[in-house]
Amino acid sequence: MEELRAEGLCKRFLRGKREVKVLQDASLCLGRGELVFLTGESGSGKTTLLKILAGLLKPDGGRVLVNGRDSTAFTEDECCDLRQRVVSYLPQQLGLLEALTAVQNVALPAMFSGDKAQCKELYSRATALLDRTGALALRDACPAELSGGETKRVLLARALMTAPRFLLADEPTADLDRESAADFLRLFAALRAQGTGVLVVTHDWSQLRAADRVLQLRAGTVRDVTQEIGNSG
Ligand SMILES: Nc1ncnc2c1ncn2[C@@H]1O[C@H](COP(=O)(O)OP(=O)(O)O)[C@@H](O)[C@H]1O
Ligand SMILES: [Mg+2]
Repeated sequence: MEELRAEGLCKRFLRGKREVKVLQDASLCLGRGELVFLTGESGSGKTTLLKILAGLLKPDGGRVLVNGRDSTAFTEDECCDLRQRVVSYLPQQLGLLEALTAVQNVALPAMFSGDKAQCKELYSRATALLDRTGALALRDACPAELSGGETKRVLLARALMTAPRFLLADEPTADLDRESAADFLRLFAALRAQGTGVLVVTHDWSQLRAADRVLQLRAGTVRDVTQEIGNSG
């Protein structure tokens, strides 16, 4: 089965002279066609965990198995390939290039993926994705003209541009209005139905029931709290 698996991840950062242990033996598994939510207090290490899973950051210990292969031992080229074809990280904020329009920003990652398709085809795919994320009208807008929620729709379209097998979304619905948050959740459910493995960081407890499983990051480790959510009301 295709899966993204973290085993015993450890990550420390230096804060001044003090060492902060952010992840301590953190493990999780995300299968294709699964929608998993990750909660945890601010500063608990959720973003750090997602970046390690996406091959953007190396852990100090533990491994990340991508379909059985340890990505923490990948070369830089292999990491690039992982980010281009397998795992897509949807950042919490920022991330659009100001000099490019929305559709150019969305088409950008595919231009480096070795995809031989012509620019025109990339643009039509980028446009279709903007339509899918509800941002078609913003196609030719510049990032400076976009609201926070609109920026998130463009970022989501961009994260989907390489047709990733796994999508790691870092607080995608934070600061969104109810309607937009519901749009995003519907889209995540549709991606799951198409076989994408989707991991979503969220603090919104009203959303948690939509997930196959709910995980909580606390004191550096990941706990499955699905049962507790189910029993809470
Ligand atoms: N590059 C870094 N250098 C030093 N400390 C960091 C770095 N990245 C994250 N941290 C610290 O690690 C902790 C976890 O951060 P983060 O993963 O962003 O948490 P969360 O996403 O759950 O809010 C925080 O205390 C943060 O300050
Ligand atoms: Mg974070």
